[in-house]
Amino acid sequence: MAWSPDDMADLVEAVSRAPSVHNSRPWELTLHGRAAVLRENRVELLRHDPGGRDQRISCGTALTNLELAVRGLGWRAQVDLHAGSGEVSGSVTAGARAEPSSRELRWARAMPQRHSYRQRFDPTPLPERLRRVVRDATRGARTGARWIGSDAEALSTARMLGYAARVFRANADYSRELAGWRSPVGEELRRVSGGLHGLSAVGLAAADSDLPDDDAVAERIREEAVLLIGTRGDRPDDHVRAGQAVERAWLAATSAGLAASVTTQPLHLGVVRVALAKRLGTPLIPQVLMRFGYPPGSV
Ligand SMILES: Cc1cc2nc3c(=O)[nH]c(=O)nc-3n(C[C@H](O)[C@H](O)[C@H](O)COP(=O)(O)O)c2cc1C
Repeated sequence: MAWSPDDMADLVEAVSRAPSVHNSRPWELTLHGRAAVLRENRVELLRHDPGGRDQRISCGTALTNLELAVRGLGWRAQVDLHAGSGEVSGSVTAGARAEPSSRELRWARAMPQRHSYRQRFDPTPLPERLRRVVRDATRGARTGARWIGSDAEALSTARMLGYAARVFRANADYSRELAGWRSPVGEELRRVSGGLHGLSAVGLAAADSDLPDDDAVAERIREEAVLLIGTRGDRPDDHVRAGQAVERAWLAATSAGLAASVTTQPLHLGVVRVALAKRLGTPLIPQVLMRFGYPPGSV
C-alpha cells in the first residue's frame, strides 16, 4: 500500500503549516510507501544560527505536524529520529488503522489557525488549567517546560535576555543578516519590530533596535505567560525534540483560543542557556521561550 494522492496532499499541507525560523522551512519531505521522511535541508545556513540549532528545532515542529496529519488520516504513526554526525532526519511511518484521539483531532485542526502573534495580549491572565494543558503538551522522554513564575524569575530572565540582546545588537554580521532578509517574513518582522515591546522586541534585537530596559521586560514577562521549553540533552536530536514540543504546545494553545510567539535568539548563547537554567533551578537545557495569551477582544 502507498499514500494516495489525497493523503500526500494532506501531508504536504501539514508540513507547510509548521513554524520555522524566518519561515525558512529548512526541510525536504519525501513520501514513499507508507513512510514520510523529513530531512534537514541546510542550504541556506543562517549566520545567527551557525550550529543549525534553529533549523533543527524547525524540523521538529514540521515532524509534529507530519505525525498529526498521519494520525488524522486514521493510521497509527511510528515516529523515528535519525541524527548522525551530519544532518538530522525524522520519519513517520503509517501502521495499522487507528482512529485519532479527540486531542489529536483538535491539534490537527488547529494547524491552519496557528500563527505567530507578536503584539500585546489581552490582560486577562491564563487560568491554571490552561497553563497545565500547554505545559503538559511539551512533555516527552527528553523534553519538558516550566513557566517563568515569580517576580525574581521574571527579573533574572529579563536580565539574561537583555544581556543577549546587547551582544546581538553589537554584532554587525547578525544585524546585516536581519536587515538583508528579503523574504515576506523578513519584511513583516522589520515592519512590526518597531512596534514591539518586551520579550518580542528583545527576541529580535538588531543594530537599530530600541531595547526596553530589564525592568520593563520583567514586568512584561510577569503580565504574559512565558514558558521555557527545554531538553534533557543538547544533541542535534534534542533540538528536533524541542521543536516537536514547541509545536505540540502551540497547537494545544491555539485549539484553546490562545495566541503565541516564540523566541530562540537569546538562547543561542551558551552562557545564557547555562545561566538561565541555573537561575530557574531547572535541569532542562533551555531551547525556546514562548509567550502565550489571549488575543485582544477574544475574552
Ligand atoms: C526555531 C524558531 C525560531 C524562531 N525565532 C523567532 C524569533 O526569535 N522571533 C520571532 O518573532 N519569531 C520567531 N520564530 C517564528 C517564525 O518567524 C514564524 O514561525 C515564521 O515566520 C512563520 O510564521 P507563522 O508562525 O505565523 O506561521 C521562530 C520560529 C522557529 C521555529
